[in-house]
Amino acid sequence: YVMKKIIITIDGWSSCGKSTLAKQLARELHYVYIDSGAMYRAITLYFLRHHIDWTIPAAVHEALQHIKLEFITNHKNGQTEMWLNGENVEYVIRDLVIAEKVSEVAAVKEVREYAVAKQQEMGRKKGIVMDGRDIGTVVFPHAELKIFMTADEKVRVQRRYKELYEKNPNITLEEVKQNLEHRDYIDSHRAISPLRQAEDALVLDNSHLTMKQQLEIAEGWVKEAIVKA
Ligand code: DC
Repeated sequence: YVMKKIIITIDGWSSCGKSTLAKQLARELHYVYIDSGAMYRAITLYFLRHHIDWTIPAAVHEALQHIKLEFITNHKNGQTEMWLNGENVEYVIRDLVIAEKVSEVAAVKEVREYAVAKQQEMGRKKGIVMDGRDIGTVVFPHAELKIFMTADEKVRVQRRYKELYEKNPNITLEEVKQNLEHRDYIDSHRAISPLRQAEDALVLDNSHLTMKQQLEIAEGWVKEAIVKA
């Protein structure tokens, strides 16, 4: 008896703990975890480094031909990391410089088509947990389990601030708040696949939940989804 493999999508606002939950679920289920946002971040990094004007479709089209994105497992911690053209960029793509531009880049049609095609290819064999903004609505509309995560903005700002502060103690709470609001606005108002909750998504508001509580709720949903699959 082989347990049926499913696709689990986790979408939601910036910094509400999507990747933490996704990683935990993937580890327990022995599934692949894919951070779709890392792809948009790596593309942004490439565009910034090579001074690509992403408002010009032809420039974007040309640049994308020179980008090779790979998710490679770090055997020290078992986590998948983002590689761009043979370089491990997992750490640099978390920088605020990238966060400030990534929503603009992620709104570009050519960029989305490129990323979505790769994401769909990675889910072909199922057994995957992918987090992002449009995973349950556009990338895998037939996913067996769709989770939509949300949390109070104050809680999210605090979480992201803590994360960024560890790297850069000069950062201010206000900067983090502005970036978060700015990204959420663009991500949910763009013309192509904006962030929205899929009709069949289950909502997880973790403003007042511990990591353990969230995991327990999600595990219950996973069990049901696998039984139904
Ligand atoms: O999840 P994240 O913060 O690393 O995502 C970075 C940006 O990428 C986010 O502001 C919106 C965009 N994104 C997207 O448009 N679609 C996805 N599936 C994932 C991320």
